[in-house]
Amino acid sequence: MAASPSLNPPLLPGPLAAPVLGLGTWRMGEDRHTRAAELAALRLALDIGWRAFDTAEMYGEGGAESLLGEALAAALRGPLRRDELFVVSKVYPHHASAAGVAAACERSLKRLRLDCLDLYLLHWRGAVPLAATVEGFERLRTRGLIRHWGVSNFDVGGLQELAALPHGMQCAANQVWYSLTRRGVEFDLLPWQQARQMPLMAYSPIDQGALARHAGLKRLAAEAGATPAQLALARLMAEPGVMVIPKSSDPARLRENWAAAAITLDEPTRQRIDALFPPPRRKQPLAIG
Ligand SMILES: NC(=O)c1ccc[n+]([C@@H]2O[C@H](COP(=O)([O-])OP(=O)(O)OC[C@H]3O[C@@H](n4cnc5c(N)ncnc54)[C@H](OP(=O)(O)O)[C@@H]3O)[C@@H](O)[C@H]2O)c1
Repeated sequence: MAASPSLNPPLLPGPLAAPVLGLGTWRMGEDRHTRAAELAALRLALDIGWRAFDTAEMYGEGGAESLLGEALAAALRGPLRRDELFVVSKVYPHHASAAGVAAACERSLKRLRLDCLDLYLLHWRGAVPLAATVEGFERLRTRGLIRHWGVSNFDVGGLQELAALPHGMQCAANQVWYSLTRRGVEFDLLPWQQARQMPLMAYSPIDQGALARHAGLKRLAAEAGATPAQLALARLMAEPGVMVIPKSSDPARLRENWAAAAITLDEPTRQRIDALFPPPRRKQPLAIG
């Protein structure tokens, strides 16, 4: 296993050009007692080098976006340029009508203190017809309020349906649960997306912390001179077109997860990970977090 000297994670190929490692923010901005510590963690993340951030109007009902907005605004008052950041947010399915998407996006931008989102996702599929959501997203793109749009929690069938709609192929990413214990996407969804240069954003890549406590992975990591979370992240990042978005508001774990992007797994380590967590041999239902 080798750690590359490069300080920044590589960028995804294709038009999105986002770093392959971003920071999740679910469960942040929910509690005023932890707000100061979470804000400090986000500011530290920016200092460490994290540049991509994943949030949603759902997280803390706007609380995570407000918190992130405060951290980003402070960083942007310094030398950081807006075009160095990659900010993702998501719209609730019940806000996903053409008009609803516009109103939700404007609220998100206000909380994030930004003029434009780099990527705006439909959080999961709801009752609103996809065509209306796509129309709303496309109007936002025309207005310059979002650079790209995409979806989340979509399997191949849903993406095919989307692709058949006018402008449906503008879908720039799909965010799904993808981790060492949830590798079903490697059977069909990931290849489908790879063939179309549509990045797959891996949410819950450490299984919400559980993989860091996995006995087998802990043993392997100790032998490889890494941590279990780093191996879990590095294995996913080794797949082309995958971006991982682990969440942490802990200073040491922010550094630990950041360092995972510099790890190149050698073949024996990769094989041992795959022996512990075998890749799928048949279609599996999409995991939903
Ligand atoms: N689109 C969707 O439907 C959807 C669903 C779920 C998640 N997401 C997005 O994906 C992001 C990541 O997923 P997630 O938050 O569910 O799970 P995750 O990133 O797999 O795990 C986060 C949890 O693991 C802990 N953790 C982080 N790094 C660690 C490390 N190195 N060692 C040990 N524990 C560690 C964190 O605690 P500390 O903070 O204390 O470090 C936190 O409790 C979310 O934050 C959100 O942005 C999207």
